[in-house]
Amino acid sequence: MHSFTDLVASFEERFTSSLPFPELPSTLYDPCRYLLQNGGKRVRPVLCLMGNELFQEISEDAWQAAFGVELFHNYTLIHDDIMDNAPLRRGRATIHARYGLTAGILCGDVMSFYAVDMIGNIKQSLPQALKLFNKTAIEVCEGQQLDMDFEQRNDVRIDEYIHMITLKTSVLLACSLKLGALTGGAMGDSANKLYEFGKNLGIAFQLQDDYLDAFGDTAKLGKQNGGDILANKKTYLLLKACINANAQQKKAIDELVAGNVDNKVQEMLALFTATGAGEDCRAEVVRYSQLAFDGLEDLALPSKRKQPLFELASYLLMRDK
Ligand code: IPE
Ligand code: IPE
Ligand code: MG
Ligand code: MG
Ligand code: MG
Repeated sequence: MHSFTDLVASFEERFTSSLPFPELPSTLYDPCRYLLQNGGKRVRPVLCLMGNELFQEISEDAWQAAFGVELFHNYTLIHDDIMDNAPLRRGRATIHARYGLTAGILCGDVMSFYAVDMIGNIKQSLPQALKLFNKTAIEVCEGQQLDMDFEQRNDVRIDEYIHMITLKTSVLLACSLKLGALTGGAMGDSANKLYEFGKNLGIAFQLQDDYLDAFGDTAKLGKQNGGDILANKKTYLLLKACINANAQQKKAIDELVAGNVDNKVQEMLALFTATGAGEDCRAEVVRYSQLAFDGLEDLALPSKRKQPLFELASYLLMRDK
């Protein structure tokens, strides 16, 4: 069994040396390389490799699936940064900020097709893999649309938020793991249990992403923090702050959401803290991680085999970037 760190290193090496892009047009492919060769935690491909290694030695199919999910993830980031008006990604200017909107749109598009192409290279369980991948891609689009719709709404409930982050984020983690399992010959029940594990892990992952957008450190994150507050994203923090707030705090939150005052981010952060929403968000990260851990315990495989997945989930629970 390989550790999380080992798998990230092996993935990094193979991925950067086997990027599928041709040289021309360089205006299309240079920006793709610019983003892909600049790191990232590689959580999704590693989940795919770990899912595969639960059942066998890591196969070529699993590598193809890992490349595919990472390309797909990066495509979603490029378009997400356009939608979220984000200036920074992985410590550098976002593609649309640096190369323009056309590059942002087309690099995302082309990367998503290269992702499908990689998935198409899978040999074992290809029809199931392709179905799962496409279903996931559709769900991510639905989740991203809900995320944007929620910016305009002030009556979003927490269950709607959980549904939205399940779609935009967690199904891709779940899909990555299940692709690894399917290409490793996993049967229905264990593949589905792994999918559920990935889903809970993914919900915890997005809750932590929201937490870090508010309370994290831009230098570590490589993303500008406070962006969710500026965009009136209906994050768990904002929804919970509204629920926990007293009348005066609720009025202050409503005013910040309605207007664009100079110190909106600092004032909202103070309210997230004062209402206990920050702590509640961290508690939800822990709760969903625990659900994921419980599901993994339940999976009928030797615990030694499952160790790397526990290790990865523990790392994500405490991550600061
Ligand atoms: C960011 O994903 C987008 C979300 C779904 C929250 P990551 O935090 O995995 O981004 P990288 O790949 O490590 O940069
Ligand atoms: C992004 O969520 C989810 C997808 C890219 C599908 P966020 O908008 O919170 O991701 P970051 O914070 O920009 O990485
Ligand atoms: Mg974003
Ligand atoms: Mg977004
Ligand atoms: Mg975010």
